[in-house]
Amino acid sequence: MAASEHEPLSFSRLAPHHIPLLIPLETESYPEPWTFNMFMQEVSNENSRFFLMFEGGRLAGYGGFWLLVDEIHITRVTIAPTLRGRGLAKRLMEYLFEAAHHCGAHTAWLEVRASNLRAIRLYEGLGFVHKGCRKAYYQRTNEDAMVMTRTIGTDIG
Ligand SMILES: CC(C)(COP(=O)(O)OP(=O)(O)OC[C@H]1O[C@@H](n2cnc3c(N)ncnc32)[C@H](O)[C@@H]1OP(=O)(O)O)[C@@H](O)C(=O)NCCC(=O)NCCS
Repeated sequence: MAASEHEPLSFSRLAPHHIPLLIPLETESYPEPWTFNMFMQEVSNENSRFFLMFEGGRLAGYGGFWLLVDEIHITRVTIAPTLRGRGLAKRLMEYLFEAAHHCGAHTAWLEVRASNLRAIRLYEGLGFVHKGCRKAYYQRTNEDAMVMTRTIGTDIG
């Protein structure tokens, strides 16, 4: 089912009161989940842009990036398990690209676990290309990271 057939999406910039809402989704979505304090750092880090996506009133996902001059490093892209496979990650990423474009960024970078085929397919579908591999990048699982990049701005009006 397409995202457009459901309630409208809305986005909020991360604030401290949101963090308890994110922790359960974070914990079930990542082998190396961020802690409360790591999310708090996203609130105080002036280079961070971090957003929650709501469908109707409920949390559908969240994502963010660090702005490094004219590049962004995408830090998180997460969709609630029961809402996956409906194009919501794509919508979230498009929102992040728009926010990045407004900050003057031209290039996006990210790392993704080599086994995370679902995320890799999502990024390839959004025009990301593979730029290399960081061996044993994820310490807890010893897993490699694929490094991916794409330009931003050319498709944003
Ligand atoms: C990765 C994740 C964000 C994808 O969210 P999603 O809302 O299911 O993704 P979308 O529905 O927008 O799908 C986008 C693309 O992903 C791929 N995809 C979606 N569901 C898939 C599935 N079940 N199997 C394989 N690929 C799939 C498809 O290429 C799809 O594009 P298409 O529908 O045009 O073919 C989500 O699975 C998630 O939150 N995972 C846990 C956190 C995580 O790993 N984040 C990425 C960190 S780098």
